[in-house]
Amino acid sequence: MRLSLETAAAQIINGQVVAVPTETVYGLAASLKDVSAIREIFRIKGRPQDNPLIVHVASADDVERMAEEVPDDFRLLASTFWPGPLTMILPVDVNAVPEVARAGLATAGFRVPDHETTCALLKMTGPLVMPSANLSGRPSATSAQHVESDFGMEFPVLDGGQCHQGVESTILYWDRESWSVVRLGAIPVEAFAEVLGYLPEVHLGSREGNVKPLCPGQMYRHYAPQAQLKLTKSFSPDMKGVIVGYEDRQYPAHCKIYLLGRIDDPKGVAGRLYALLRQLDDDKVLEASVDVDVPHDGLWCTILERLRKASQS
Ligand code: TXA
Ligand code: MG
Repeated sequence: MRLSLETAAAQIINGQVVAVPTETVYGLAASLKDVSAIREIFRIKGRPQDNPLIVHVASADDVERMAEEVPDDFRLLASTFWPGPLTMILPVDVNAVPEVARAGLATAGFRVPDHETTCALLKMTGPLVMPSANLSGRPSATSAQHVESDFGMEFPVLDGGQCHQGVESTILYWDRESWSVVRLGAIPVEAFAEVLGYLPEVHLGSREGNVKPLCPGQMYRHYAPQAQLKLTKSFSPDMKGVIVGYEDRQYPAHCKIYLLGRIDDPKGVAGRLYALLRQLDDDKVLEASVDVDVPHDGLWCTILERLRKASQS
């Protein structure tokens, strides 16, 4: 059910969960003040209780009110990347962020989304916690239709059009000494070097390793369509089947091709990624070969990481 901004704000203030747009992906929003609405998010999504939620705020000032300690370069990062697809994880005042939203950790992730409608909403509702608006394990939703496909036509959605980034925020973690990247996202890691004066280390963790990842979400299966994805750099000319590839490439003549965009436009590719994975499901594709002969820098690192996760069964 599509809601107006005013109705969405009223429903959230009333304790309901509403799907809202951001520039990265749609989120399932509840008021930070409403513990039972936050519990409802975990139930609706089928989300494990140990996977914390990001707190979305209207400005960096809101973060300073909730954080226990804010490093010197927090303001610089905020003024450079907010509003935008950066989440910063900081130690928090545990009374300011409910335990259920933090999944019991003494930290919380914060971000100011770059979406006009959602910024207006945040001014009306105050801080909102929101995970991506998809059933746990499915590709994230980058349009109101994707949300409805996971949660049904009656689910309340604030329609803000297509998300223009199309992949989630990059997450920086402050360990009281330095920042590290704990989830790749819409901002390439290289972009932080100029602001911080050092390239933050990347600590992604994985389901296989014994080391617990700093970002609990890394442990779970993610972004996956029903189709089994095979990542490959070469295609034999007599191959048949489905290929996910790029406009400026030649593929075997007897294959059905799904196009992600052009190799020289990683932003466009990122923007189309989840919609394409969902399209494979709609078309009942059971197996697809994905062309991963792509550059290994900038936003491509994020795209490749999402494709790797989507290919894990
Ligand atoms: O772009 C985005 O970040 C989107 C939009 C809706 O803002 N949100 C999003 O939320 O991707 P979600 O819940 O799907 O992913 C949040 C990730 C999870 O992997 C979670 O483990 C991690 O952030 N996270 C949240 N709070 C954390 C904390 N205090 N410490 C470590 N990781 C945290
Ligand atoms: Mg998610």
